[in-house]
Amino acid sequence: MSSSVIAFSLRNAPALIEQLFPVQKLSAESYKEQMAVHGKTLTALGSYWKGRKPLILNKACILGCLLPATDNAARDLEIFEMLMGMDHASFVGRWPRAIKPKEILGRLAIDDISDYFTVDPEGVLPCCSPIDWSNPTYRDVRVSWNTDLPLVERRRVEVQMLPKSPYRELVEQSHRPEEVGDSLYDHIWTSVNNHLGTAARTFPELIEQLGIMRFGHRPRLGDTFCGSGQIPFEAARLGCDVYASDLNPVACMLTWGGIHVVGSSECNRNLFNRAQRSAMEQVQAEIDKLGVESDGNGWRAKVFLYCAEVRCPQTGWMVPLIPSRVVSKSYRAVADLIPDPNNKCYVVQIRNDATPTEMETAEAGTVWRDGKYGEAFLVHQLEGVTFKTKISTLRGDYERTDGTVANRLRLWDKLDFIPSPDDIFQERLYCIQWMRPKSKGKGEEYEFRSVNDADLERERVVARHVAARLKTWQDRGLVPDMRIEVGGPPRYQGQDLIRARGWTYWHHAFNARQLLTGALLNESQDARLKFGLTQVLNCNSRLSRWNNSGGGGGIVKGVFDNQALNTLFNYGCRGSGYARDLAELEYKRFTIEEMVKTQVECQAANQVSSPQDMFVTDPPYGDAVKYEEILDFFIAWLRKNAPAEFSHWVWDSRRSLAIKGEDDEFRQKMVCAYKKMTECIPDNGIQVIMFTHQSGSIWADMANIVWAAGLQVTAAWYVVTEAENILRPGTNVKGTVLLVLRKRAGTHKTTRDELAWEIQEEVESQVNLLAGLNQDAKGLYRDENVFEDADIQMAGYAAALRALTHYGIIDGRDMTVEAMRPRVKGEETFVDSLIRFAVHTANRALVPLGIPKAHWDRLESAERFYLKLLDLEARGFKTLDNYQNFAKAFKVRDFRALMASQKANQARLKSAVEFGKTEMSDGAELHHSVLRAVLYGVMELVKNVDGIEVLSHLSLNIPDYFQSQYRRELAAELANYLANKLEILRPVEASAARILRDLARNQRIG
Ligand SMILES: C[S@@+](CC[C@H](N)C(=O)[O-])C[C@H]1O[C@@H](n2cnc3c(N)ncnc32)[C@H](O)[C@@H]1O
Repeated sequence: MSSSVIAFSLRNAPALIEQLFPVQKLSAESYKEQMAVHGKTLTALGSYWKGRKPLILNKACILGCLLPATDNAARDLEIFEMLMGMDHASFVGRWPRAIKPKEILGRLAIDDISDYFTVDPEGVLPCCSPIDWSNPTYRDVRVSWNTDLPLVERRRVEVQMLPKSPYRELVEQSHRPEEVGDSLYDHIWTSVNNHLGTAARTFPELIEQLGIMRFGHRPRLGDTFCGSGQIPFEAARLGCDVYASDLNPVACMLTWGGIHVVGSSECNRNLFNRAQRSAMEQVQAEIDKLGVESDGNGWRAKVFLYCAEVRCPQTGWMVPLIPSRVVSKSYRAVADLIPDPNNKCYVVQIRNDATPTEMETAEAGTVWRDGKYGEAFLVHQLEGVTFKTKISTLRGDYERTDGTVANRLRLWDKLDFIPSPDDIFQERLYCIQWMRPKSKGKGEEYEFRSVNDADLERERVVARHVAARLKTWQDRGLVPDMRIEVGGPPRYQGQDLIRARGWTYWHHAFNARQLLTGALLNESQDARLKFGLTQVLNCNSRLSRWNNSGGGGGIVKGVFDNQALNTLFNYGCRGSGYARDLAELEYKRFTIEEMVKTQVECQAANQVSSPQDMFVTDPPYGDAVKYEEILDFFIAWLRKNAPAEFSHWVWDSRRSLAIKGEDDEFRQKMVCAYKKMTECIPDNGIQVIMFTHQSGSIWADMANIVWAAGLQVTAAWYVVTEAENILRPGTNVKGTVLLVLRKRAGTHKTTRDELAWEIQEEVESQVNLLAGLNQDAKGLYRDENVFEDADIQMAGYAAALRALTHYGIIDGRDMTVEAMRPRVKGEETFVDSLIRFAVHTANRALVPLGIPKAHWDRLESAERFYLKLLDLEARGFKTLDNYQNFAKAFKVRDFRALMASQKANQARLKSAVEFGKTEMSDGAELHHSVLRAVLYGVMELVKNVDGIEVLSHLSLNIPDYFQSQYRRELAAELANYLANKLEILRPVEASAARILRDLARNQRIG
């Protein structure tokens, strides 16, 4: 270990994430990871989990907390990017194809190629490049890198071969850093160690050394809302000791899986693969013994398609409920309904090779909906007459005296798994997709067939088999015996299962074949096999949709493809071979070092008590996903038969303890949790809270929680993490706010008046730092901003929060008490008013890029408003609340006079032409302002007024024009600003603004 690694030498050093964080690049990287969908590292353990936080973002947070911010911010940034695999040279490793020496010599000018390459045979090539490889004398020449060439040097040359694209495009074309592996970082360690005083060659070594320098030991990271384990996994992979907990046992299981399955050693992985294969073979053998999946002629069933069936009250006919009669788009298979008048029912005949017109007709099945979410109807035709009945009528919906709706469905009981003969909804197998190995070549061939008597007999065999064992299976915990508990408002998860089908226990969501496969898979006590089980359950249930246009003829989709646990009229059931694909998924492997200690607990966040150095958490915010309601689907299968590793967890969703909503109860529970976490960290400990930015009240909510928990904000960043919209800034972007927090030391007092100055100073210094880094980075990298205006704005807000939450007492009020004060509808709390005040102060201090601060300070309120909002418009922002907020912040009396549209999502400023001659008279807020005069000039130039005349109007419209050099310069500067911002929005006005700028700049005075 390096002699500079001295315990606690960084004890009080600010963390890098408190100073800077390359949010633009991280947004591009996070987007790339989210887009990988099934290629994501932990997804194979549970693709049903919603809202995974990108590993790359988690890595950035963890590193950002451990790395020190030095007085060389630009170098800090460079080193950080190297550690993230985001530096220029790392893209050589991330590039999808190795760059060959011959390509380099063909393109780059190198003075002495022997500095880098060994050429065989020697002396054939000229000593400098580029080399023309079409020369036949060079045909057999071989070129390789000099073996003693330092990797950094090699990378420096290779980098020049990469396209000079913007970062986002480069990321799009490259591998994710984690896909490349440790070798990606081979070139960085000398620079890293020189900058940090460490002696590391791997991440775990670096993390340990930074931990010692900051906390005196390998850093301990806690996540008390661990969910699928993305944060703890990344922390452990990096080399932190990890404490993870969640209220939900399914979350704990996924977190455990990340650490022990994906993080396993190679040797353990091989053992596991063998165990997995043998368990699957056993399941398959049991099913084969029953002979219920083969037709006896070499075909094995891949998918069974089932549908509900009801008696039409108008005709007395039994009608299958099939929303679309198209069985498979690629096989052009359709289900024809052939009337059988004797038995008053339909025979379902599967026909392949339907014509395009027949396929189109078959799109309409026997279920029709009044709009996407409207009332469903049973529809069928007999002898040319259409009969249409509401499904609610079939169920027998009626209103109770208390106004609630009930129906006449029989509620299923604990031993039911198929409908009783008298039930309103029956169930019917209507098609089977068969498969067999191709007679020639590799792969399988498939066909869709109608159901015959032999198939029905096999159905009965399965049903008898399950009926005879269900009770024992339930007693042993191999299949659920847990009641469905309906969720709370607004979505009432699980209610549809009861209301639409009469299902009351979780196993009712599975048919006989699915119960059989599930029970057999659940026999094993190997914890690592439970991931395969949950993946199979997700894609093999009565709630698993049949997608008739997926690959291989169609796909049986997952229950959690959406978050609604709704019943289906028809569904797909996987044969055991097809289900096995999910149970035997190959997991990625990233071995977690043996010395790393990990602990996974199933408990509420406010129960945490073990000491940690850092907490990085992603708490539930705003009810995005109701984990505590939807995961009962799996808990029901695991709770009675959990393997030893999971058996000490509480196998219940404990909904009352779950943090949800955004109301006072939410705040109270969050405060309890964060208070506890704060107690668990040392005085120099650090926390990062991630949350998806959803509503404007978020700042006040978070400030309350932070205050009441005894924390203080030290930075905030905004990273776009969601797939959609990343390329269209300003449109409904979904991203993540990262709030960096420290323990609040002492009880500092201040007043609101003093705060105003402090906030302003904090905001200005933060803005200057980031804007300065943009400038520094311009020289270093491509011509791109490290921070965009919106990032700087966010950092400005954070600076305001930082100033605010530093104080325990403001205007004589105890902020921990104020923060816990319940909200009264329609009333603004003291904290709300402080936040509003802080945000306004921050907004006022934020100068749009392109206007010097000195000039900005002298502008009128309305001018600032117009210029700032034009900047936002140029970046695609259109929502009215921005205009309202900035109008307040800049103290504009009536911003409406400046608006062309005030529609909620289509708000827009007036263009120069739309202003025409308005807003120039005495009462107008832009009266006599330089901006108004410039806009007037632009309008005139658009209307082809002669340049000399335009200039003379400009000098008349700007008071003291000839006396004030400042005003003349400002006019040219504002015209230049308009030209830049209007380039895309209004190119004609942009070009007029450019002309005006040049006229003003070249005007002879005196
Ligand atoms: C947004 S998710 C975390 C997602 C996670 N970071 C990931 O990437 O998968 C929030 C988690 O908080 C858990 N949760 C809700 N209330 C809780 C409480 N009172 N204590 C502990 N965990 C809770 C939920 O079960 C859920 O897993």
